[in-house]
Amino acid sequence: MGSILVIKSSAGGAASVSNKLVDQLVARLQAERPELKVVERDLDREPVPHLSSATMAGIGRPAPETEAAKPTRALSDALVAELQEAEILVIGAPMYNFGIASTLKSWFDHVLRAGVTFQYGPNGPEGLVAAKPVIVIETRGGAYSEGPAAVLDSQEPHLRTMLGFMGLRDVDFVRVEKLAMAAQEQIAAAVERIGALRPGALAKAA
Ligand SMILES: Cc1cc2nc3c(=O)[nH]c(=O)nc-3n(C[C@H](O)[C@H](O)[C@H](O)COP(=O)(O)O)c2cc1C
Repeated sequence: MGSILVIKSSAGGAASVSNKLVDQLVARLQAERPELKVVERDLDREPVPHLSSATMAGIGRPAPETEAAKPTRALSDALVAELQEAEILVIGAPMYNFGIASTLKSWFDHVLRAGVTFQYGPNGPEGLVAAKPVIVIETRGGAYSEGPAAVLDSQEPHLRTMLGFMGLRDVDFVRVEKLAMAAQEQIAAAVERIGALRPGALAKAA
């Protein structure tokens, strides 16, 4: 059975805007693609540990021999399998200090694996993850879509690069900005944008 893989990374708990919008989006995707099961990784509730000198071998080649690195390999294999099997990937990504949450970075550190999710071919890097639509809900307190603050955005370009490196280039970014200034208005606008999204996965079912 295919799946919708949902990655949440807010540390905001019940107040999280990205988590709420992700839940709304997933409810809509489920209504339109009821045959897909939902696989959720909430990185706040269940963080993926940071890589360390003891565990780094778990994401490398050959397979790790140390006891400390074996659980890292098992976790990385499980996260990669979830990513490969998914028909749709949904990511909730709050902006923390101009970039993504460190918990989400740690998830990427475990799924970006040479020879597994990308490789270096004659023409440079090649993504090895099966193509699928990706929807990223990115929340921010400030505004970075235009003006002098645009260059400070290390969230969306970083996500685009990491996803693209694995071959995931069909990405819809739903930017939810100015949450520190006009939250209700911005959330309402985001709900409308989510309603109007026609990611490839929905078009296929229509
Ligand atoms: C530790 C931390 C760092 C943050 N850094 C930024 C930032 O650099 N720029 C910004 O616009 N908002 C920043 N914010 C605000 C969050 O992006 C905003 O509150 C967003 O709604 C968080 O997503 P969530 O509601 O899903 O938790 C920060 C919030 C926290 C808690």
